[in-house]
Amino acid sequence: MTTRAGAHFPTRLALQGRRVLVCVGGGIAAYKALELVRELKRRGASVRVAMTPAAERFVAPLSFAALSGEPVARDLWSDAHRGEIHVELGAWAEAVVVAPATANLLVRAASGLCDDVVLATLACCRAPTLFAPAMHERMWRHAPVARAVRRLRDDGARLVGPVTGPLASGEVGEGRMSEPSEIADAVERILASTGADLEGVRVLVTSGPTLEDLDPVRFLGNRSTGRMGHALARRALARGAHVTLISGPVALEPPPGAEHVAVRSALQMHEAVLARADAQDAIVMAAAVADWRPAEPSTDKLKKPDGVTETTLRLVRNPDILAELGAWRAARGQRRPVLVGFAVETRDLEQAAREKLRVKRCDLVVANLAADGFGGDEDVALLVDEDGVASTGRIDKHALADLVLDRVRARLASG
Ligand code: CTP
Repeated sequence: MTTRAGAHFPTRLALQGRRVLVCVGGGIAAYKALELVRELKRRGASVRVAMTPAAERFVAPLSFAALSGEPVARDLWSDAHRGEIHVELGAWAEAVVVAPATANLLVRAASGLCDDVVLATLACCRAPTLFAPAMHERMWRHAPVARAVRRLRDDGARLVGPVTGPLASGEVGEGRMSEPSEIADAVERILASTGADLEGVRVLVTSGPTLEDLDPVRFLGNRSTGRMGHALARRALARGAHVTLISGPVALEPPPGAEHVAVRSALQMHEAVLARADAQDAIVMAAAVADWRPAEPSTDKLKKPDGVTETTLRLVRNPDILAELGAWRAARGQRRPVLVGFAVETRDLEQAAREKLRVKRCDLVVANLAADGFGGDEDVALLVDEDGVASTGRIDKHALADLVLDRVRARLASG
């Protein structure tokens, strides 16, 4: 930075003083991890490096030691360290980058194995973790690898890449590790949102579908997986909030630290949310609440009458929880709790979101096309509020959760 008088002041670097652990896996892209260490250092970070035994077959530990200025953690069993190196490194890191994250490393990390220094450190570290996968496209698409990635994401990990480009085999495909500068950008983004900027804020999040029972074995449901709601709960917790997660039936674990209330139907969710609404600073309705329920659910399993080829099902409207919250808040003449709604649509996305914002009297509507994100790990969302519309571009659900929480925080700060 240069002042008008010509005096020079050092510019504050983006990662100044931040502690980043780089875990290097055994793939050819390990050579790019050298550049990543340089890039992180250039941006001001303190960097330490851990390597798997396979990584050492590609790049000498000495290169990482020279670039990071620190000894490299290579061996869980070495008596060179005082104490336990995985415990020490895990506590030291403010962010962890696994680059390259090979198929083997992803699958083992997702299972919680810890038989080398990288895996043991990952198991022992509570800092946000970013995986930069690198492998042949067929490995990336291999079902166990895809499952592992999904599990890691559900456990709160972030991913950057892989991108499409030339692979080590000479073919072109999706599996190439992101460039070091892109990985460093992702580290910056993660560290920018790890401050406890929601400390003491009470956030209620709803998640998943509601299921409306027809009889003891059948129900009406929808395709919501709960990934978005659970990601919101996880990110709010990481940012210091007190989180209540009211969730319909999902296959996901509630994040540790959240007060978890399991419900099944819209009526149960309605009751659980309203009972807690008054105590909240923000309520984020990410659940896909059923608008209708069977008028007469049967206590016995329904039988199909012989010879009948058509039938009708009578449905009654469920309460609209978000609309009720909006009306309740308006009646109190208050700005709290901040209310966030979601809209999944198949067409006219922006118009539908604006309409929901108005009708339900909430502060923000997060809208996405069913084809873009429902059930997946990534979304393209529109954030619609009274000031206008912003598109997020393609981002993962945890990053989207952070954007939503940024808006909530801004709203709370404005009074
Ligand atoms: N919502 C709610 N209670 C309901 C239905 C929805 O609180 N009974 C909330 C959802 O959690 C979500 C938003 O309202 O935040 C979704 O709005 P909604 O208009 O119900 O969306 P759809 O169910 O898709 O409705 P429509 O078919 O009318 O677009």
